[in-house]
Amino acid sequence: MNKPNMFDAKKRNGHKPVYYDYENIDYDFGLGKKYFVRTYGCQMNEHDSERIKGLLRRCGYSESDSYESADIVILNTCAIRENAHDKVFGFLGALKSLKRKKSDLIIGLCGCMAQEESVVDSILSKYKFVDFVCGTHNIDKIPSIINEVIKSNKMQVEVLSYEGDVYEGIPVIRDSKYSAWVDIIYGCDKFCTYCIVPYTRGTQRSRKYEEIVKEVKELVKLGYKEVTLLGQNVNAYGKDLYDNYNLANLLNDVADTGIERVRFVTSHPWDFTDEMIEVIAGRDNVMPYIHLPVQSGSNKILKLMNRRYTKEEYLTLYNKLRNSVKNASITTDIIVGFPGETEEDFNETLELVNECKFDGAFTFAFSPRENTPASYLKETVSEDEKLDRLHRLNALVNKYSNEANKRLEGTVVKCLVTGESEKDDSKVCGYTENMKLVNIVADKSAIGKIIDVKITSAKSFSLDGEYIKTHELVNN
Ligand code: SAH
Ligand code: SF4
Ligand code: F3S
Repeated sequence: MNKPNMFDAKKRNGHKPVYYDYENIDYDFGLGKKYFVRTYGCQMNEHDSERIKGLLRRCGYSESDSYESADIVILNTCAIRENAHDKVFGFLGALKSLKRKKSDLIIGLCGCMAQEESVVDSILSKYKFVDFVCGTHNIDKIPSIINEVIKSNKMQVEVLSYEGDVYEGIPVIRDSKYSAWVDIIYGCDKFCTYCIVPYTRGTQRSRKYEEIVKEVKELVKLGYKEVTLLGQNVNAYGKDLYDNYNLANLLNDVADTGIERVRFVTSHPWDFTDEMIEVIAGRDNVMPYIHLPVQSGSNKILKLMNRRYTKEEYLTLYNKLRNSVKNASITTDIIVGFPGETEEDFNETLELVNECKFDGAFTFAFSPRENTPASYLKETVSEDEKLDRLHRLNALVNKYSNEANKRLEGTVVKCLVTGESEKDDSKVCGYTENMKLVNIVADKSAIGKIIDVKITSAKSFSLDGEYIKTHELVNN
């Protein structure tokens, strides 16, 4: 058993990450059986789930469309806020009753919650029906962990609390045939005081650029139209590996593969260079969409959060991006109710939103996370007040996203059609170059293609449009 240790997870001892290739061990215990994977959290976790599914398929399993009919259920979890925990423990409750009826059901808990000591302690004491816990650093070991569960019939806990390595070549089953996630940097060294990610995901480790470019070239061959380069802070790409190769170089090299669309998330304002802005502005297939979390508009709170920039520095960068990248859409993340946030501090956040007029924002109430520095600060904002601030902030954010969307009414935009519309299955849906969701009146044959769409009406969270014409693509 390897239990997590948050103290070890925090250490940065200068461990040089080991780069290794996934070693396939042939298991067939899944033949004739089905898996169900439920994912919580960020895009990196979604991509991890695609790998978990790839590994399960190597063991013989096929996918089940419901957890009730699965032989193995894996929860790939998120630890970012308390409500992420609540959902997971709620689902575990449902699985407990399923396991009473189906005693050979295998239940596994993976992802960021598995890296938390308190979570593993409660699994060991209160959720004994869970068969295995595996952390974020060793998902390549999931097949051998399941093998051990089957052989021993005992709970396996395999969580590593260290800086992390980089593995290549883990099999993957992608959720989309058109748009693919591509990890470029793992972990985070920023240690924002509220955030648990540097503890659950380890130190910043870049993948080698040759591996990334090779993966994108393969995706182009498979017919993918879009890649999204992923990292907790993609702007730090390369800093740990190279003297003279950074995100700007990588964006250029990935754009050179001929993939129709290149996206990247998330950007930390502190690492944004002019060179990167030039590439985003200058390359047609690098999409004009930047997610640039600000977190707060008060310098006092930004300092307490250890964000490493001031409101003024953020605004300078923001305006530079707006002026340089044509038709860019810029979105952000904001936390309300951080310890010490007064009504004046919150008003500064509202002022910043008034100034930036973001295309959209993900807004959150502060949630203290295990062992993070902010969790030791005295909470000064009541839960009611946090919710009130959240409501006021959301009203303002929605006003600006609605205005940004309204400006598109009557224009013709390019959309990558990703599937049927969730709201109306007679329509399809897709994303504009600057990442706005559009529900489109078009034939289903448009799915997987980049088409011109005329925007007919705009709402706060989506647009309506109609098909104009299909683009002749280089890769079609
Ligand atoms: N790496 C990204 C953020 C990943 S977490 C970045 O730095 O931009 C996504 C968002 O969750 C954060 O931007 C923050 O707004 C929010 N968040 C993180 N920890 C939180 C906490 N303890 N309470 C509330 N919101 C939090
Ligand atoms: Fe968390 Fe900050 Fe790292 Fe983002 S940059 S993952 S908020 S520590
Ligand atoms: Fe959640 Fe872990 Fe992602 S905490 S947001 S799943 S890195």
